[in-house]
Parts: sequence; C-alpha cells; structure tokens
Amino acid sequence: MELEPDKFKFFFPLPVTLITTVDAKGVHNGAPYGCVMPILRPLNLIAMASALPRDTLKNIRETKEFVINVVGKPDFSKAMGCARNYPAEVNEMEKAQMETTPSKKVAPLRMKNALGWIEAVLEKEVTGDEYALVIGRVLLSEVNDRFWDGKNLLEDPLVMLAPNFKAMGEKYAGRKELAEFMPQLAHKL
Ligand SMILES: Cc1cc2nc3c(=O)[nH]c(=O)nc-3n(C[C@H](O)[C@H](O)[C@H](O)COP(=O)(O)O)c2cc1C
Repeated sequence: MELEPDKFKFFFPLPVTLITTVDAKGVHNGAPYGCVMPILRPLNLIAMASALPRDTLKNIRETKEFVINVVGKPDFSKAMGCARNYPAEVNEMEKAQMETTPSKKVAPLRMKNALGWIEAVLEKEVTGDEYALVIGRVLLSEVNDRFWDGKNLLEDPLVMLAPNFKAMGEKYAGRKELAEFMPQLAHKL
C-alpha cells in the first residue's frame, strides 16, 4: 500500500535518544530526539535534525557541545518527561527527577541510566527554513557498564515508529507494553 510521503515513519524505526546540552550561562538541558544518525561508519560523525526553535539547538550554537544519550527502558519515562516545553532557563532533567552524571570530554551532563553515551562537538550546521541538521564530531562513545556484560547489551535500545509520535513502539514490544511504562501518553495511542 502506498502511503503519504511523510508516513514512512510507520515502518522506518528511529532511535530513542536524549540529547543533553548546556547553555552559555551553565543551564543544563535535555530533550528527546529520534532524528539521529551516524554519517558513514568509518567517520566519527553523527547527525541530528532539529526543528526550529529548540533550546537544544540554541545551546549547541552557544557552547558547541552535546551528548547523545541512548535510551532503553531504564528511565525511559523520565527521558520522555524532558519533552515538556519549559522555558530555556529550566533544566528539564531536574524537573523529570532524572539522575545525571558528568561527561568525560564535554560540559553537557550525561543521563546516568542511559545505555550509552556519544559525546560530540559541533562540526557543521546545515540550516533550512524549518530545520537545522547538526553534524557533530564524536569525541568519545562509551557503553554504560551497568548494562553491558563485556560482550552484549543487557537492555535493548528503544526504537520508535512515530508518525506524530502517536504510534510509538519499541523493539520487542508495542503499545500495550509502552503504556505500562509511559502511562501519561497511553491515552493518546
Ligand atoms: C520520542 C521523541 C523524539 C523527538 N525527536 C525530535 C527530533 O528528532 N527533533 C526535534 O527537533 N524534536 C524532537 N522531539 C521533540 C523535542 O524533544 C521537544 O520539542 C522538546 O521539548 C525540545 O526541547 P528543547 O526546546 O529543550 O530542546 C522529540 C520528542 C519525542 C517525545
């Protein structure tokens, strides 16, 4: 069945990440991002697409650094809680009662219970009328030892199928399971 052009998101999974940044005054920020992709595997580059305006984008422009926190079930609801629209001076991660921990090479904080972290510095921004494509150079990637047995991840990274974010799913489960750990969105599914 042919779909409307933007409806490929019904069958094209996106990763669930929380992008953490800090502004020039030192206010930390976290926001969920699904439009995240590596730029070719041999290159240490990663891209993310941002709508305009976003505090995340403003902060990256100001301080040039960001962390892509890969989200699994642990703290998934808290990560989604960071999607609420707060003023720029509010730290969403504090509001969501999310535990954070310092990064190693950049100033933005890490989400403590992420499955792994990609610390990056702004390489290039491609700006459109309605979006900005942010390309970061990866300074460090690290798997969270809490969720790593030396060979395998012990938790699955979450993915979503997301037309308007209403049909969000995850790798091995669907809406029913999602509703159990994300009740605030369940009524919209
Ligand atoms: C699962 C999920 C994925 C999202 N992915 C993106 C994305 O890729 N790009 C984007 O601009 N906004 C995305 N959003 C929306 C932002 O997270 C949301 O607007 C947030 O409030 C922005 O926060 P900020 O202004 O602090 O950056 C997503 C939201 C959710 C819940």
